[in-house]
Amino acid sequence: MHPGQAPGSHCCVQNVTNLLWTSRPARQHTARMNETFSTTPITGKAGQGRRISVAPMMALTDRHCRYFLRQISRSCLLYTEMLATTALLHGDRERLLAYSPQEHPLALQLGGSDPDELAACARLAADYGYDEVNLNLGCPSSRVQQGGIGACLMKQPSRVASCLQAMQDAVSVPVTVKIRLGVSGRSSQQELVDFVGCLANAGCQTFVVHARIAILEGLSPQENRSVPPLEYERVYQLKRSFPELEIILNGGVTDLDQAETHLREVDGVMLGRAAYYTPWVLSGVDERFFGQPHQPDRHQVLESMVSYANAYIASRDTHRLSHISRHMLGLFNGIAGARLFRRYLSERAHSRQATAELLLQAGELSRAGSTQSYMSVSQ
Ligand SMILES: Cc1cc2nc3c(=O)[nH]c(=O)nc-3n(C[C@H](O)[C@H](O)[C@H](O)COP(=O)(O)O)c2cc1C
Repeated sequence: MHPGQAPGSHCCVQNVTNLLWTSRPARQHTARMNETFSTTPITGKAGQGRRISVAPMMALTDRHCRYFLRQISRSCLLYTEMLATTALLHGDRERLLAYSPQEHPLALQLGGSDPDELAACARLAADYGYDEVNLNLGCPSSRVQQGGIGACLMKQPSRVASCLQAMQDAVSVPVTVKIRLGVSGRSSQQELVDFVGCLANAGCQTFVVHARIAILEGLSPQENRSVPPLEYERVYQLKRSFPELEIILNGGVTDLDQAETHLREVDGVMLGRAAYYTPWVLSGVDERFFGQPHQPDRHQVLESMVSYANAYIASRDTHRLSHISRHMLGLFNGIAGARLFRRYLSERAHSRQATAELLLQAGELSRAGSTQSYMSVSQ
């Protein structure tokens, strides 16, 4: 039993283009793909990257988004969107698991509640070369609840522990969880400590904690990311209850000064919306938190996206620049020319004819930062 747990609460047990866009297991193909495409060295493993990570976000953190963010920070850990075990076991797994080798360190997040299915999916993740497998225990959406996965599993510690054991037995990469402070009806600090203790007894070492509870009835997922208050002190307390565990704080962190403050109390900080909507926040991460001399430049980032985007567009008729550029709209947020950059790409990138050079043109516009130059580039 772990020290913080209440007595009696212990529980349970073509060419270049084709190389990039076919999606075979990474282990078999990484070397060759790197020779052709590497613009960013593969750094570290998940554990090193967890000091600062980018959150799993459905419909946002797809492979294009991650590749883009990786141009800004080489060291932070990136997470995929949540992938349900049923989708992975019965769907197009090559497409679902495909990523570019430059995305490492990279964690796959799974949604599921069946130990055997989760173990099978964890094995697939490890075979594809992911650096970590994370189990989603924080999503409150009603659809996810209907499937018996996500945050509602915080009410079933024994089941979660069985899932984690099965996953850990299946793979040697770290198996981690992403949780809330609790769920409605089970939201006290003692219940959180008991839950974490139960999972720690099952071997889980790393807990990403979204610093608010989830209200399972009556709130949309979006409301569940703003209505329940942030309670950072409870995450700090959790770390004090379990100094031997790795506790990563998530929720509401918008800049690196805040991250540094939290890092005095916990082992890592995960950024979600801030990293997506103001991606340049990641530009200071490598030097400040990983001691890596990497000072990216926005225009260099655009240049590094051009070959990636052109390869993607050329690989299939239905591929559009907008699939990639939609994740890049915030690149200039906070500085002059941001609006021009967003507008230029939003208006043009969905076209079948749009090539990746549009990214550079949009960058030039934002550099000039004036309506006049918008007119001249857009003619
Ligand atoms: C659009 C969107 C999709 C999300 N999808 C997931 C998901 O798939 N898995 C997950 O664990 N959390 C998901 N989250 C929650 C985030 O990972 C994170 O916990 C939350 O946004 C709070 O962090 P932030 O304030 O830094 O954004 C999502 C959040 C957003 C905004």
